[in-house]
Amino acid sequence: MHKKELTIFVLEFNSVSELAETDRELVFAAREASENAYAPYSGFRVGAALLLENGVVVKGNNQENADFTDGLCAERVALFYANANYPQVKVVAMAISASNSNGLLVQPAQPCGSCRQALVETETRFHHPIRLILDSASKIMIVEKAESLLPFAFKPGSLG
Ligand code: THU
Repeated sequence: MHKKELTIFVLEFNSVSELAETDRELVFAAREASENAYAPYSGFRVGAALLLENGVVVKGNNQENADFTDGLCAERVALFYANANYPQVKVVAMAISASNSNGLLVQPAQPCGSCRQALVETETRFHHPIRLILDSASKIMIVEKAESLLPFAFKPGSLG
């Protein structure tokens, strides 16, 4: 028997002003995207802004539906748009911002499990990590690759 320990590295910043300019702009784009969320049922507005290697920024937001299970998260809206329209271009970073009726979340926005899975698929597809920038009112968290948030992800190799 072997006991293994997994470590993830998280960078924490007190505010957007501490971020590098590209990351800061991506956070502002995610906040802007959250304003256009279609979230009449949850009132939870999420914005995702991703940066492609060619400098293009793609924005997405959550899209809800009266049939609740038919909605889609902001991260996957942005990711699928990017993958559909820029199939040859690496995704290098994604900022995620969320707000509720009290405004910007106090703790960093966290992508759901399905979005983590989709992010890992894109990392695998382009052989390139996606830096995640998780926005909030109290601090900003950065993880250097999405896979850090989904250890033992289901990957092509999992198909056997
Ligand atoms: N949501 C996202 O857009 N991203 C996540 O990672 C978690 C949840 C959306 C889905 C739904 O519209 C609302 O937030 C409440 O769950």
